[in-house]
Amino acid sequence: MRELVFATNNQHKVEEVQNKLDGLCKIHTLKEYGCTDDIPEDHDTLEGNASQKSHYLHDKYGCDCFSDDTGLEVEALDGEPGVYSARYAGESKNPEANMQKLLKKLAGHENRRARFRTIISLILNGKEYFFEGIVNGEILTEKHGNEGFGYDPIFRPDGFDRSFAELSMNDKNKISHRGRAVEKLFDFLKKQ
Ligand code: IMP
Repeated sequence: MRELVFATNNQHKVEEVQNKLDGLCKIHTLKEYGCTDDIPEDHDTLEGNASQKSHYLHDKYGCDCFSDDTGLEVEALDGEPGVYSARYAGESKNPEANMQKLLKKLAGHENRRARFRTIISLILNGKEYFFEGIVNGEILTEKHGNEGFGYDPIFRPDGFDRSFAELSMNDKNKISHRGRAVEKLFDFLKKQ
C-alpha cells in the first residue's frame, strides 16, 4: 500500500483524513516519521503555507507527503480570520480565545455568512499537486456541541440545523472543507 506522510500532529485531522483514505494508502504523522520540527508556515495564503510545509518535508526527507492549510473566511469581516485562523487571538493558538474574538467582532452584524476553505498540497514522486475543498455556512451567535476542534462549535454548515461540533466525525467528514479536499486527493491517488 502507498505510504504518505501528513505534515501534521493534529490527531483530529489525522483521524478525519485516514478515515477517508482507508484502504488506499497508509498515513504517517510527523511524530511517527521522527520529525519534531516546528515546520514554518509564514506565507499569507493557504496555498503558500500548504506548499511550504510539503516542500519542507520533501526537501528534508525526500518522502511522498501532503500538507493542508485551512482558513475560516467570514464575509462581513472581508475574509478574516482566513489564513490567520489558528493565531487569530494570539500566538498561543487558543481555540476558545479565537472563537470569543470572532463572536465579539461579529456582534451587531446581520450577515454571518462564512466558509471554511482547505488547500492540500501533495508532493508525489517529486511533483506537486493542489486540491481545494470548501464548505459554506454561517457563524452562530454562541457555541454548540463538544465534538471536533477549532471553530467547530460556532460554525453551522448549510443544510444542517446543528454546528460542526454537534455532528459525528463521519457526518462532518462527508461535507467538510477538508473532507471535500481529501476526496479530490483520493480520486487523484486512485488514478496513479
Ligand atoms: P490549519 O492551518 O489547517 O491547522 O487550520 C488553521 C486553523 O483553522 C486551526 O487552528 C483551526 O482553528 C481552524 N480549523 C481548521 N480546520 C478546522 C475544522 O475542521 N474545524 C474548525 N476549525 C478548523
